[in-house]
Amino acid sequence: MADFEPKIVSKEELSRISADVNPEELLLFDDHCLNVHYESKVLIEAKEPGSPWVVTKDLKTGERAEIMDCTSQNWTLALGFAHPDVNYAVSEQMKRLTHVKSSVVSPARAKFSNKLAELVPGRLKGGRVHINNSGGSLALEAAIKLALVASKNADQILVFRGGYHGNTLAMLTASQPIHTVTRFRPFGIDCFVRVPQPYCYRCMWNYKNGLYGNRDPQCNLECFNLVKEYLQGLSSRKLAGVVLELCQAAGGHIPFPPEFLVKLREVCDEEKILIIYDESQTAVWRTGKYFSLTEKYEKELGIDLSPDMMCFTKAIGGGFPLGAMIASPKIKKRFSPSEDHTTFSNTPIGLTAGLALIKVIEKGKINENCEERGKQITKRLKELQEKYDVIGDIRGPGLFIGIELVKNKESREPFSELLQEMLAEGIRQNIFFGPSMPYLTGTGKIIRHNLIKIKPPLVITEEDADYICDKFESVLKASLHNLATK
Ligand SMILES: Cc1ncc(COP(=O)(O)O)c(C=O)c1O
Repeated sequence: MADFEPKIVSKEELSRISADVNPEELLLFDDHCLNVHYESKVLIEAKEPGSPWVVTKDLKTGERAEIMDCTSQNWTLALGFAHPDVNYAVSEQMKRLTHVKSSVVSPARAKFSNKLAELVPGRLKGGRVHINNSGGSLALEAAIKLALVASKNADQILVFRGGYHGNTLAMLTASQPIHTVTRFRPFGIDCFVRVPQPYCYRCMWNYKNGLYGNRDPQCNLECFNLVKEYLQGLSSRKLAGVVLELCQAAGGHIPFPPEFLVKLREVCDEEKILIIYDESQTAVWRTGKYFSLTEKYEKELGIDLSPDMMCFTKAIGGGFPLGAMIASPKIKKRFSPSEDHTTFSNTPIGLTAGLALIKVIEKGKINENCEERGKQITKRLKELQEKYDVIGDIRGPGLFIGIELVKNKESREPFSELLQEMLAEGIRQNIFFGPSMPYLTGTGKIIRHNLIKIKPPLVITEEDADYICDKFESVLKASLHNLATK
């Protein structure tokens, strides 16, 4: 297997492609970029291989800075920027093959499918794996397709308000009610039924003690009774599946009470509705020592809450594009070629990177680090909560941390302006924090947009975690001051 040796273009010229960008190129880019939103920093390179810090260059001034990234670039880079082990495995793969068509079996595809079938919890173990080289939207679409195939006559999917499942035409319709703020009509709106998501911090039944992601001990799960009506026939057509995020991520780190999920399983079994978990954000050890939040519940609460299908993206590709879905072995149906294939779905590079990531996490015990650093940061945040009335709720677990910003703890009124100020001030202070998505009404009005996220790579050190907490406080203080003097 030969090392890379360019034949036509010089090494220097090829290396320059990714090394930097000049002001003229940036100016031109502004004319040629179709998407209106992009950020004020150009990301150039990892501070070191596998670091949570990234070297950036300011779009306007050209000034360079090293920034701690608490977004992990859409919560993806579990091992930081340009991890050396993953990159080594990928470069070995690249020397052999970079692309094969979807019907081919490559070593990476076979090994990845087998590994995922071993890692997943409960009734998914030993299941069948679907892969794509794009991410969550296609994983979710595969799950929905399989639910439609498996259930024959049923053709509606139940989704939860505030959920986010992607940006393809179908997944846009499934998400939030995002279609209320797009300038095109939603595709397949009649294929989805949207019901309220349980939200213990802002309970519709006015229970007040649903804090830190736990339900109010007094509550009687009234929220489930509402959803049950739909499962048992209130939806306009027969339901094939229910799609949910165990902890709604973009929607604001809003977990389902596990007891809700137990009841959901009972009713779905009775009604023959398949349960699909979207663990795009909560799997691959982001929430601590277990592979997925489902596994965490299984091990810590002793209950099997596993779904019929589970979807993955983000960290699962080790920093390379990859999406996956696993279906329980009890679902006997498989896809025909016309039902499912895309040109690039069978990506040896993403699959190899995904396998390398799993090895690094397992051998390096990165999951345990995630749990420890998560506890360290959450403990500090709870101390800050005593001091600052604007920290309403803190929801984890692991390094999946969201902080709900409020005008004051009593009213819980969302403090959306503070989120925007903190994101901007964070960049000025060399730290990227992440936002939740705006929460919309059925007519597209923003109700709240007030959750700030701390979700750095799982490899952060104890010192990095202290830095994040110190910066969180100083950014919060400066932002409150900025808003008061505006
Ligand atoms: C929970 C969840 N599901 C699905 C998706 C869609 O994934 P992708 O953007 O890779 O299509 C996302 C993306 O943020 C997500 O957070």
